[in-house]
Amino acid sequence: MSDPTTNRDPEDLQEILHDTLEADRTGGGSPVRDEPVLTVEGLNVVYEVEQPVHAVKDASFELRRGEVLGLAGESGCGKTTLAYGLNQLHRPPARISSGTVTFHDHVTGEHVDVLALEGDRLRSFRWSKVAMVFQGAMNSLNPVLNVRTQLGDVFTTHLPHLGREERARRGAELLELVGVDPSRLDAFPHELSGGMRQRVMIAMALSLDPQLMIMDEPTTALDVVVQREILQEVLRLRRELGFAVVFITHDLPMLLEIADRIAVMKAGRIVELETAEDLYFAPRHAYTRTLLGSFPSLTGEAGDFVRAGFDQDPTRS
Ligand SMILES: Nc1ncnc2c1ncn2[C@@H]1O[C@H](COP(=O)(O)OP(=O)(O)OP(=O)(O)O)[C@@H](O)[C@H]1O
Ligand SMILES: [Mg+2]
Repeated sequence: MSDPTTNRDPEDLQEILHDTLEADRTGGGSPVRDEPVLTVEGLNVVYEVEQPVHAVKDASFELRRGEVLGLAGESGCGKTTLAYGLNQLHRPPARISSGTVTFHDHVTGEHVDVLALEGDRLRSFRWSKVAMVFQGAMNSLNPVLNVRTQLGDVFTTHLPHLGREERARRGAELLELVGVDPSRLDAFPHELSGGMRQRVMIAMALSLDPQLMIMDEPTTALDVVVQREILQEVLRLRRELGFAVVFITHDLPMLLEIADRIAVMKAGRIVELETAEDLYFAPRHAYTRTLLGSFPSLTGEAGDFVRAGFDQDPTRS
């Protein structure tokens, strides 16, 4: 099967992705810098319902600048709740019962206590410092507004001094950045494929040059070829723009390919947080081994979907 928009087949894409990863790790130099962009300490989130649900339990981790941190775990383990908590997007009955989230802003040099932000400061923080691409985001574009208007709205709200032409210019640049032809600025969401809509959402998230992108299942609804193209694009963009990514998905094999480190969550707790290599070769937690074993593509029988250079089978040791 080839992708009608590019005439490339999935094998080519896989090769390109592997090349990108190799470039990341070797000649291209790793984009990960040895300084934190986000520090999370002892974060607890509870849904205050009749039988309270303790959805995130004592989460602590540090995210480095330019790093892709994968967050994996079965449905209902608390991934989305944790992601929302990171920039106060949680809504009642969810409540952060304790913990801190500190954002290290390399533009201003400030260490921002994210959970203490309110009002305008919080709203501006969410777009300009930490952007989020939601689960099912491609369906959240406004169906009656064209792409130009929706991209422009972000600028009107956050950079009101920009004139109309400048907004249009930046909108076109953003589309180009995510691989959508700028002629699509005049298109309405229903005129775009699912992959293009998701790229537009990513463009919107990038519009104010955030230092961190939280992506919750950003490609789950897309077919495998489009999924991989978008992932490749995200990796390229983080290399060029230097933002860090928290990438949430059920798809552990995919995380092994794109993530620098992977956190495995189970019943609200991060049970393991390792580099992708260590997690694959030497999983420490029994649950991680179960999770790895549940993907046939990782057990060596159909091993072509394995990160370059990973040729051992962790489930056989
Ligand atoms: N509004 C709510 N009220 C009560 N409990 C909730 C609410 N929203 C989520 N939960 C519970 O919190 C827990 C974590 O849910 P969350 O959506 O964060 O999981 P997830 O890991 O993102 O799952 P998925 O992979 O299906 O997206 C689950 O047990 C869920 O039932
Ligand atoms: Mg979720």
